[in-house]
Amino acid sequence: MPQIIFLPHAVFCPDGLVVEAAPGTSILEVAHDNHIEIESACGGVCACTTCHCIVREGFDSLNEADELEEDLLDKAWGLEAQSRLSCQAIVGEEDLTVEIPKYSLNHAAEAPH
Ligand code: FES
Repeated sequence: MPQIIFLPHAVFCPDGLVVEAAPGTSILEVAHDNHIEIESACGGVCACTTCHCIVREGFDSLNEADELEEDLLDKAWGLEAQSRLSCQAIVGEEDLTVEIPKYSLNHAAEAPH
């Protein structure tokens, strides 16, 4: 079974975490199953950007993002080439390294500049 390495995030997983992930599961589901409470304001239906993550390793093993996801990602805080909405990113056969951005759009307004 592939593993997901969640890199340390001050709020959601201060020490980082390595977990097993069943292929076919979304990164968001894997995170929540392992008590990493990535925000999911829309409940995981691809209608917000709060579940934004950056897939540092294994990006190409994920399903492809559809147009709706791409449009939403354009609005996400800290967008990168390997950004995904974690509720839409489905684990394939390879290990993944996932970074949770420091802020989500909900927090960006309050972020110090
Ligand atoms: S939880 Fe809203 S788009 Fe993923």
